[in-house]
Amino acid sequence: MSITTPLFQHHKHCDDLFADAESACGNGDWEAGGRLFALLRDQLEAHFSSEEELLFPAFEAATGMTSGPTEVMRGEHRQMRDLLGQMSSGLADRDGDTFSGAAETLLILMQQHNMKEENILYPMCDNALGASDIGATLSERLKAS
Ligand SMILES: [Fe+2]
Ligand SMILES: [Fe+2]
Repeated sequence: MSITTPLFQHHKHCDDLFADAESACGNGDWEAGGRLFALLRDQLEAHFSSEEELLFPAFEAATGMTSGPTEVMRGEHRQMRDLLGQMSSGLADRDGDTFSGAAETLLILMQQHNMKEENILYPMCDNALGASDIGATLSERLKAS
């Protein structure tokens, strides 16, 4: 198991939550949709902050690369947090168009973001941090969330 395996697996978990929340809201089940969305937002926040507070700083310290891929990923996390905020407003107003418009954009952004991490940044992190025990911390943190 590599350092980034827990993050890899957690992408899949968040994808599943996203699909469940979107289909509940799409069917007009705002109660279930609201619960699922809250779970999704919590899990995504735990994921983003694990990367921003643990993985990225460790990678930056090991490689000296502070203005490369990690900076791009932090920017995309900001955009995804914005979209989650828009989805949350849509939910609060029971406004299906606002919710699904933001959800659609988030899904595309999330897929592209995760692909970049899985294919490029995570392998770079695994290489740079081979001997680090950060993987266990990531695993604990995402399990506890
Ligand atoms: Fe990320
Ligand atoms: Fe990620």
